[in-house]
Amino acid sequence: MPLFTIDPDKCNRDGICVSECPSRVILTESPKDVPIFAPDAEEHCLQCGHCVSVCPEGALSLSWLKPDECPSLDPKLLLTPDQAEQFLAFRRSIRTFRKKPVERDKLEKLLEIACGAPSAKNAQPWHWLVVEDAAQVRHLAGIVMDWVRMIIRDRPEVAEQMKLPRVLEAWENGDERICRGAPHVIVVHGDKDWPFGSEDGALALSHLDLYASAMGLGTCWGGYLYTAANNYPPLFEAMGLPSGHRAYGAMMVGYPKFKYPRIPRRNPPRVVWA
Ligand SMILES: Cc1cc2nc3c(=O)[nH]c(=O)nc-3n(C[C@H](O)[C@H](O)[C@H](O)COP(=O)(O)O)c2cc1C
Repeated sequence: MPLFTIDPDKCNRDGICVSECPSRVILTESPKDVPIFAPDAEEHCLQCGHCVSVCPEGALSLSWLKPDECPSLDPKLLLTPDQAEQFLAFRRSIRTFRKKPVERDKLEKLLEIACGAPSAKNAQPWHWLVVEDAAQVRHLAGIVMDWVRMIIRDRPEVAEQMKLPRVLEAWENGDERICRGAPHVIVVHGDKDWPFGSEDGALALSHLDLYASAMGLGTCWGGYLYTAANNYPPLFEAMGLPSGHRAYGAMMVGYPKFKYPRIPRRNPPRVVWA
């Protein structure tokens, strides 16, 4: 089956698919004609599915995606700008969690939403580690502390910059600041040589983070956790991450103990209009 097909009876020659194809592999010789596909279309197609999802007539199909397989927009669910602003502004990093574990289906939903994030070249490079067991989260935090002790000993200036002596002191006083007592941690990882891994990982976690807040879940970036994973092989191994991968990011997840009734102030944009 060819990669692309266009139903000439449905195609209204509006040229939208031609305009929207990011790789410019859908071509039209004249506005009266049904578009055609470049000879090297299969090689350069990003498999983003935009051509199928943008066509108002449902005329275009890919071998792996038909129009009726794409969920349709529900106008009733559109956010107003005020709703979007409040939703985004009320997202907070949560660092105090209830003991209650998050249900598996909710964790699965978070991953599904995260995988809808943008990624460079539509590579969708994400692999996921979900640490469901709270005792294992605590165990990993303990290994991070071994790394913390090593950095304090070997690279004191870096340790100071990352405020690691304070983190160690807290740990020794029973205050776990690595995963903050979260019942779960989600780590996104992928090919260590993928040049956009950090960005793609951050975007997927950002989607996850925002959706978690809509689900009434609390999240917080685990900056120490994934930095240690990438720099301390015993942690990388304890996480079971494959060799050739690196951790792109990590997120603590759980039910928040407290609600935030107010939005804290943030800096205004530092901007030059040119
Ligand atoms: C890349 C990154 C790493 C972070 N690492 C940690 C961390 O290890 N521990 C932590 O408690 N918070 C961490 N945070 C959360 C930030 O401290 C938090 O986003 C910031 O204080 C603003 O608060 P807000 O998210 O509630 O707006 C991290 C945030 C980012 C973006």
